[in-house]
Amino acid sequence: MEMINIENLNKIYKTGSVEVHALKNVNIEIKHGEFIAIMGHSGSGKSTLMNIIGCLDRPTSGKYFLEGVEIDKQSADELSLIRNKKIGFVFQSFNLIPRTNILRNVELPMIYAKVSAKQRREKALELLEKVGLQDRVNHLPNELSGGQKQRVAIARALANNPPIILADEPTGNLDTNSSEEIMKIFRKLNNEGNSIIVVTHEHEVAKYADRIIVFKDGSIIEDRMKEGVENYLA
Ligand SMILES: Nc1ncnc2c1ncn2[C@@H]1O[C@H](COP(=O)(O)OP(=O)(O)OP(=O)(O)O)[C@@H](O)[C@H]1O
Ligand SMILES: [Mg+2]
Repeated sequence: MEMINIENLNKIYKTGSVEVHALKNVNIEIKHGEFIAIMGHSGSGKSTLMNIIGCLDRPTSGKYFLEGVEIDKQSADELSLIRNKKIGFVFQSFNLIPRTNILRNVELPMIYAKVSAKQRREKALELLEKVGLQDRVNHLPNELSGGQKQRVAIARALANNPPIILADEPTGNLDTNSSEEIMKIFRKLNNEGNSIIVVTHEHEVAKYADRIIVFKDGSIIEDRMKEGVENYLA
């Protein structure tokens, strides 16, 4: 079974009398374990697609199957369950909870998933260690650098072991070194079996992925596997 199957997807935003056809007959198949970069100019539909894949928004027409489940047929409650279990989100602006230490930030999705206090603390500590922040667990988000904040966001995204990580311009607010650091973490997670979809404008960032999908005006104009994927791990 494909992890994601998208068939003839269209998204039309209606604002007053203005219609924007943000996605036009998009077809994509994604297997478990893929590492994909989505590229394209501003306004080409990248975030619209990510929001639909992440079950944050619904298409206007077409089909979307996530691990065999037809997402369009699910109620809002079922969708939030699916989101919490199957998808980890990483955003350009980190979206951490301020005035709450990073340990608690990472625990939060597990609180929603009703994991016991002991288990979620252990898991949060393990994940923060995985992203190299074990000595910062009691720090507040604003006491961290941008790259460190994004590492917390990645740890949080992994909290409920989702099969898929979605990251919309995760390096958009980071300098070159921090961007590389973040992409190396994604690369490592992918090598460990996580499926990853990253939206980016930068070829330097996209080169970490195995497959590149390019959008233009709501349509896919290129979808190719990268040959001879380089091993970026030391
Ligand atoms: N909520 C909305 N209501 C109306 N139009 C929208 C909405 N969200 C996006 N759009 C429009 O849909 C089109 C695609 O937007 P989208 O955000 O998917 O682009 P993008 O590729 O992510 O761009 P960027 O690189 O700037 O983030 C744009 O023309 C945008 O103006
Ligand atoms: Mg966008």
